[in-house]
Amino acid sequence: MGDSPLLVAGAGIAGLWAALHAAPRTVILLTGSTLGENASTAWAQGGVAAALSEDDSPALHAADTIRAGAGLVNPEAARLLAEQGPREIEALYALGAPFEREPDGSWALSREAAHSRARVARVKGDQAGAGILSALIAAVKAADHIEIREGWRAEALLPGADGGCAGVLARTPQARLVRIEAGETILAMGSVCGLYGVTTVPFTSQGQALAMAARLGAVIEDAEFVQFHPTAIDTGRDPAPLATEALRGEGATLVDRAGKRFMLPVHADAELAPRDVVARAVHRQVRSGRGAFLDCRTAVGGAFPERFPAVFAACMSAGIDPRREPIPVAPAAHYHMGGIATDLSGYTGVPGLYAAGECASTGVHGANRLASNSLLDGLVFGRRAAEACRDAEARTVKAGPAAPSPVLPAPALARLRQLMAAEAGVERDGAGLARLLCAVDDLEAKYGAADALIAARFVAASALSRTESRGGHFRSDFPQTAPGARHTRMRLDEACAAAPEPLLATGPAE
Ligand code: SIN
Repeated sequence: MGDSPLLVAGAGIAGLWAALHAAPRTVILLTGSTLGENASTAWAQGGVAAALSEDDSPALHAADTIRAGAGLVNPEAARLLAEQGPREIEALYALGAPFEREPDGSWALSREAAHSRARVARVKGDQAGAGILSALIAAVKAADHIEIREGWRAEALLPGADGGCAGVLARTPQARLVRIEAGETILAMGSVCGLYGVTTVPFTSQGQALAMAARLGAVIEDAEFVQFHPTAIDTGRDPAPLATEALRGEGATLVDRAGKRFMLPVHADAELAPRDVVARAVHRQVRSGRGAFLDCRTAVGGAFPERFPAVFAACMSAGIDPRREPIPVAPAAHYHMGGIATDLSGYTGVPGLYAAGECASTGVHGANRLASNSLLDGLVFGRRAAEACRDAEARTVKAGPAAPSPVLPAPALARLRQLMAAEAGVERDGAGLARLLCAVDDLEAKYGAADALIAARFVAASALSRTESRGGHFRSDFPQTAPGARHTRMRLDEACAAAPEPLLATGPAE
């Protein structure tokens, strides 16, 4: 076992679960905010998918995960996810996460898109993320092996003399830069979705982990696969509040301005079609001016305040009463399937560096994540990364110099977010992606290689190199899915090259 502290950067579900499961190893847990703030986990509404009912099984859950992932899911990752699911729910429940139970004691389960069974364990209707996070925060605060440093933001990785990672350079609450050396570091710092003009996650999720890992030589995998949630509440808020997919699971319908259901001609599963299909349909409705609205009046009606309190509050504060009127919706960047390439224990291939949760790419989500598999991913792979670090051979680290990434001024960041939404959004094409890369070059020439620019570059270069449409990646100039499924894998120098290598094969196509 490594005898130096284990560093965990990030305090969403993956980081906190990893910190808890690294015991007895000492953990230094860094979070740029106070615990519970700026973690996408807190905003998750639907719940955690797991095979918990009599008519379900991990094999069915894994099969749905693989089907949703459009040919790019690593079947072993899906198997681990699905098999571990029920145990993780039990463990969270034992910790105090208040999952709902039916009167007979069984789990209360919601149905969400592309699941063949009702299998989403929920908390007070739409409060899953917040309920789970508060149980986790209480547990880490009570854990003797965890030293929590709130307001400490990881800004760069320390290079080790062996070419690996030797810890992090962190900014303290007093704005000092401090080097923290560690034999192992787990990055669990969330997604790139805050780089989009419309997002459902905290604005602060801007691909920092991805950029930090890439600078140290890590491979970034499948960065083009950004998932757009079809039903963000469209009232001009940034970030946009979510109207959980569980509403459609309850029977809420998607209608145009005239009240006509528009998913019926698009897909046999209508509102419960795979998320990318619904997101594109909503996108086209909005773009055409016909509008997109989620009509919950019949399916939920007067029960809204009790059954979906978070959505209800978000609507009411924007002057929309969802019991009486349809909710205006639009797609918003919601989840990054791609990220830092890791094995199934979170190891990045860079000695001492691990990643877990949304910033990692284990291949478990492929091209399109199945609804409510994200919290489960954080649990299963956060735990596995912690166990790998706990059991790692002691590693001597000798840390070299590191500097923080340049900061992108607010107007430049606003421009980047607008460009990401326009050119790397629900529908992309080669010309738009090339424009985006040129804009990233210009911004970088002016302000330096900020983390946000590096992350945006990976998304754009990967999307440009994938000349097909698959899952969350839709190219209007290549609308078909190409035969054979391949991952996109790039290091920083490849992403920076004008013509990135197209689609390096990484294994057998499914
Ligand atoms: C939702 O509640 O619709 C989001 C769940 C998810 O992203 O998996």
